[in-house]
Amino acid sequence: MSYLESRGLDKKTVEKFGIGYSYKSWDGLLHHFTEEEIFTPEEVEKSGLIIKKEDSKNSYYDRFRGRLMFPIFNEYDKIVGFGGRKLYEDDLGGKYINSPESKVYSKSRILYGLNFAKEKIRYYDYVILVEGYMDVIALYKNEIENVAASSGTALTEEQTRLLSRYTKNVYLLFDSDMAGIKAAKRGIELLLESGFDISIISLPFGEDPDSYIKNNGKKEFDKRIQEKMSFINFIAEYYRKENKLESVEEKTIFIKEMIGYISKIPDRIKRSLFIKEISSEYKLNESILTDELNKILRSGKNNSFPKSSLSLPEKKTDESSKSFYGNNNFESELLELFIHGNEEALAFLENNLHTEYIKDRKILSITEKILDEIINHGSLDISAVINELKEDGEKEILSRISNNKYEASYLEKSGSDNLLSQSASPVYTIKNAEDLVKKFRIRELEIKRNEIRSDPGKMLEVFEITKEINELMKN
Ligand code: UTP
Ligand code: MN
Repeated sequence: MSYLESRGLDKKTVEKFGIGYSYKSWDGLLHHFTEEEIFTPEEVEKSGLIIKKEDSKNSYYDRFRGRLMFPIFNEYDKIVGFGGRKLYEDDLGGKYINSPESKVYSKSRILYGLNFAKEKIRYYDYVILVEGYMDVIALYKNEIENVAASSGTALTEEQTRLLSRYTKNVYLLFDSDMAGIKAAKRGIELLLESGFDISIISLPFGEDPDSYIKNNGKKEFDKRIQEKMSFINFIAEYYRKENKLESVEEKTIFIKEMIGYISKIPDRIKRSLFIKEISSEYKLNESILTDELNKILRSGKNNSFPKSSLSLPEKKTDESSKSFYGNNNFESELLELFIHGNEEALAFLENNLHTEYIKDRKILSITEKILDEIINHGSLDISAVINELKEDGEKEILSRISNNKYEASYLEKSGSDNLLSQSASPVYTIKNAEDLVKKFRIRELEIKRNEIRSDPGKMLEVFEITKEINELMKN
C-alpha cells in the first residue's frame, strides 16, 4: 500500500484496475488454489500463474512472487493474464514479468487498458497510445481515458486491427528515450500502412507520461496534447536534434526516409498532400518528390500487398489490394460452420484457423468475437456474440447466417428425416471444418506465391509452394 501511495495511486484507481500483490513466497498461490480445491495444479499451470519444476513430475512454484500485480484485460473486460512489477531489490527477475502466452492471452493481440478506454476512444475519435501499464493508469487517474498501451512491445498488426474498430486516429505518446523513439518509428510505419492518421505527442527527454503528468499536472499535459506534431515534423525534429540535417547528403537521407514513410500510406490523396507539405517545407520541387515516391511504390508493389490487405475498410477498395487470386466468398462459410458445427468441428477451428487467413474485415471481426466467446465461456452462444457486435453490418451478417439454417451452402445435412431433425440445424462435422481450413490455407499459399513469382531468385520457393498447394488439393 505504501508503494502505491508513493506512486500516487488512490484507492479508486487501484480498485478500477484491479491492482494487487503476489506474496513473496514460492507457493502462496499454489497453496491457495490446491487447499481450497478451486483448481488442480495442472489447471493453474495452464493459466501461467504457476510453473512446473524441471525434472520433477508434480512439483510447482508461483511465477509471480513479491510483485505488484496488474491484471491484463481483453477488450471485453475479461482478465486474460497478468503483469507483475518488481518491488524488491533482491528480486533478480526483470522489472516486469508477464503471463506467458496461453490459450487466452497473446501479447500481440492485447492493448492494455482498451477495455476501459474503448467508448471514450469512439467518442473522441482518437486514442493516445502509450508504452506502459503505469502510463495508462496515470492518465486515467487524470481523467484522460482514451488511452491504451502496447505494453512495451513493438506495435503489432493485430493491435492496429483492434484499434481500427474504434478509431483511425492515433496519438503516439512514447517515452522520450532512444528506445521510445525507435518504438515510435516502427509504430508509425505500421500505423501508416494500416491507414491510420498519426500525431505524435512529445515529452521532455527522460520523462514518460506517468512521470510527466505527476510532475507537471494535467493542465501542462493537456497543452502537450494540443501541441501534437505530424509524424513528419516529429522525425525532422529527431534528425535536427542529432544534427543530421546539416549537409546536402544528410538532408537527402532525411527526405528519402520521409518519402519511404509516405509510400506506406494507402490513400493516394493523402500521399500527395504529404508530398506537397514536404515540398513547401523544404523548398523542393514537388515533381521530383513525386517521382521518388512512384519509384518506391513501383518497386514495393508486390511485397506491400499482404501486409496491407487487412485492417481498414477503405483498403478493400484500394486497387492495389484487390484480390487477384479467386474471390473471398467462401469466407462466410466459416461463420456457418461456427454456428452449425458440432463440438469437434468447433474445436478444430479454434485450434487450426489462423485469423491472419481471413481477409474480409467484417468476417474477421465477427470471427474474433466468436473465438473470444468460445475461449471465455467454453462454448458458443451465438446470440451473445450477436449482441456484442456493434460495427455497421456485422450484426446483420451474423444474424442472417444464423437464421439460414436450411440454406447452408455446401454442407450436408445431418442424418435422418424424422420429425425431430426438421427443427434441428444441419450439423457440420470436423471434415467440413478441415476442408474449409484447407481452402484458407491454399489461398494463403497462393498469395505468397504471387508475391514472389516474378523474383528469379525465388524459383525454388515458388516450386515448393506449388507442390504444397497441389498436395492440399489432392487430399
Ligand atoms: P517501462 O520500463 O517504461 O515501465 O516499460 P513503466 O510502465 O513506466 O513502469 P514504472 O513507471 O517504472 O513502474 C513500459 C512497459 O513495458 C513492459 C511493461 O508493459 C511496461 O509497462 N515491460 C517493461 C516488460 O514487459 N518487461 C520489462 O522488463 C520492462
Ligand atoms: Mn514509468
